[in-house]
Amino acid sequence: MGSAQCKCNSDCKSRIEERLDEDIEDSILSVVSSRTLGSAEVLECLHKVQLFTRLPEDLLPTLAPLCDVRDYLPGDVVIEQGDDGHELFVIRKGITSVQVNGHEVAQLKDGDYFGENSLLRDEPRTATIVAKAPLSTIIVQREKFDELGLREKLVFKTRKAIGGGFLETSAAKPPCLKSNDDRAVMEMALKNNSNLQGLVALDDKSIHRLIDCAWKEEVKAGLDVITEGDLNASFFYIVKSGKFEVLQRVDEKAAQRVGQLKAGSSFGELALIFTAPRAATVKALVDAELWVMDRSDFKQILADRSDKCQEYVAYLDKVDLLKAHLKTAEKEALAKSLTEMTFSEGESIFEQGEKGESFYILIEGQVSVIKDGVEQIKLTATGQEARHFGERALMTNEPRAATIKVTSSTAKTLRLDRVSFEMLLGSLEELKKMGNDRPAVVMNPQAKMFRNASLLRSASHIGTAGGDREAQDIGPIERKHLKPVGMLGCGGFGCVELVEHELTGETYALKAMSKGYIVKCGMKQSVLTEKAVQMMCDSLFIVRLFETYKNDVTLYFLLEAALGGELYATYNKKGFFGKENFVRFYAAGVVMAFDHLHGKKILYRDLKPENLLLNEKGNIKLADMGLAKICIGKTYTACGTPDYFAPELIASTGHTIAVDWWTLGIFIFELMSGHPPFESSYPMQTYQKIMRGINKVAFPPKCKGPAEELIKHLCRPEPSDRLPMKKGGSRNLKAHAFYRTFDWSSFETLKMSPPYRPLVQSKRDLSNFAQSKELPPILPYEDDGSNWDGDFPTCS
Ligand code: ADE
Repeated sequence: MGSAQCKCNSDCKSRIEERLDEDIEDSILSVVSSRTLGSAEVLECLHKVQLFTRLPEDLLPTLAPLCDVRDYLPGDVVIEQGDDGHELFVIRKGITSVQVNGHEVAQLKDGDYFGENSLLRDEPRTATIVAKAPLSTIIVQREKFDELGLREKLVFKTRKAIGGGFLETSAAKPPCLKSNDDRAVMEMALKNNSNLQGLVALDDKSIHRLIDCAWKEEVKAGLDVITEGDLNASFFYIVKSGKFEVLQRVDEKAAQRVGQLKAGSSFGELALIFTAPRAATVKALVDAELWVMDRSDFKQILADRSDKCQEYVAYLDKVDLLKAHLKTAEKEALAKSLTEMTFSEGESIFEQGEKGESFYILIEGQVSVIKDGVEQIKLTATGQEARHFGERALMTNEPRAATIKVTSSTAKTLRLDRVSFEMLLGSLEELKKMGNDRPAVVMNPQAKMFRNASLLRSASHIGTAGGDREAQDIGPIERKHLKPVGMLGCGGFGCVELVEHELTGETYALKAMSKGYIVKCGMKQSVLTEKAVQMMCDSLFIVRLFETYKNDVTLYFLLEAALGGELYATYNKKGFFGKENFVRFYAAGVVMAFDHLHGKKILYRDLKPENLLLNEKGNIKLADMGLAKICIGKTYTACGTPDYFAPELIASTGHTIAVDWWTLGIFIFELMSGHPPFESSYPMQTYQKIMRGINKVAFPPKCKGPAEELIKHLCRPEPSDRLPMKKGGSRNLKAHAFYRTFDWSSFETLKMSPPYRPLVQSKRDLSNFAQSKELPPILPYEDDGSNWDGDFPTCS
């Protein structure tokens, strides 16, 4: 440490060099084992470290005697920004300066600690720490931490997804009259809300429409307008008159005031974008008046701005085949499912002879139509007129009659594939045969999925023993034949238990969901969707569903057990961050899972390492379809995990499967770097960073090269620019330099050796799962008589 060079300024550096020899001597003299210090004192210090709260309590005393105590003189540099760290420091006594790029950003004192992450991974120090007064520290070395096997014992809290449920919240009220002054105050409040600005594009027209929808409410002094943690959060407020205080909980009993609000202030803006619990309590200090705005009005206004439905219907009306045979409602449904694609000069939109799958409308740029190598005609899209080609692909997959090549520097098209067409309207051939004297036939793909899922279940049994093994029909697996083995995990929803089928000896993961919890969080629909999506899946890279059951208070999913543990916990415990070959393998599993889901028009929406499981061989499986949704075109409900949100989700302009490819970029960044790129202490800061874009993120050295390039190709702000959204789809990603030497065919058939094989000693081995201390709360369930879960069970 004596040779450390502070980068803050040369003055500081020379002072350090002058004191070099003296320092080394002092440091050596002052390093003592904690055994000479009272273990109780060391233990007290260790208890303050957040990371150690993840250890079973009885293990910390084994670490205390192995800690070092090291003292520093004022001016000593304890750690240096940019250096690799292998030690955690807890301050026994003293004060330090925390400096980033030479500027003091904070001070630390007795009981504070720094360098926590260095116990888990090689990560450059993010700040320089300098002693400001005589300093005494307790040091935990990563080596000792690992020697005791403590890393393996850590329990990692998983990040929660938000926005999955739909609560029937308090109803919006009718709008009321506003004076011009009122409108001016509201406009200012919306424009001055720095959290909203930068996240959503609110132009003057949208602001005025929003103001039109607002209503007034009077509140009495002492009333909590919103309550921290409340899930029933769909309103945004502007203070018309009066005063409010903002309170945040410090612990179970106490709250502290973190701000005050007066006329013209606004609060609750997160509720406009997401269904997320309230982040603070806002209490009226005096009798007051508020303007209130509702999320659905807000979302509707933003969605309308991006809705080009009528413009697109006009394009479809130019296509004879569609104009002649489709009803207006059908064309509107198709218009909503058109997706944008961009091409560059020289790229073929399709090639002569290729099987036709999609129809295109050129809305920007110029293309050349080429037959047998000879240009036939050029087509140019102008502001007034779009061009179209390839419509026969909506009926048959016959070979393309010509090549369409882009001749402008870029071209933008709208695309509709035959699968989407048929999911929405059925076969075009059939519609043609039925003639024009027929009702419109727009189908709801989600409803169709439910129907298909039940058909699938009754037609052939979905249960096949084991996940990756040969399919063998084993008939219905009745719940009475399942015997508990132990817990795999617990969440707010309920628990996942390992169970053994007494007739076959096979083990499964039985996920129980409390109906009380489902109703409280507004998740009735999403649980039914989760089942239907799971039943549609048939992939080696997605956890399989075998049966569903129910009783008076619980719904159950019987799933393939993946006994190698969660990828998230594995990475944290084993310190795999930054290993490129590992990331290649696990991200490849995600690509396979996404290809499978997207082929069925399913968006996944919640990729994160917590939702990937390893099986006993180390192969990867995507789990938890709780936020998945079948969707053709755009969907508008924002949900997912904040660190992984794509910008269009925050902007509320509608999203497509392109959000999944964004999340893959975040996932690769996180596995390479140890943290997600937009990580912040508060979700609002995370959203602001996401909107600023990936190019503003500093990539750590481990994440440079092809990995960085791929991440940037996946995290493009414009969804249609993301690598797998371009022509070629996920093949573009598979061909990227990051995968240059990767053998996809061996991977896809599970022939490739996984980079890490977890220790799984038997089908009953629970050792890769941390035993959770918390059991989920038991929530009462009152049946509303609607039989909403009537079709849920597949067997008794
Ligand atoms: N936790 C949640 N789902 C699981 C599964 N399928 N296997 C093992 N643990 C799980």
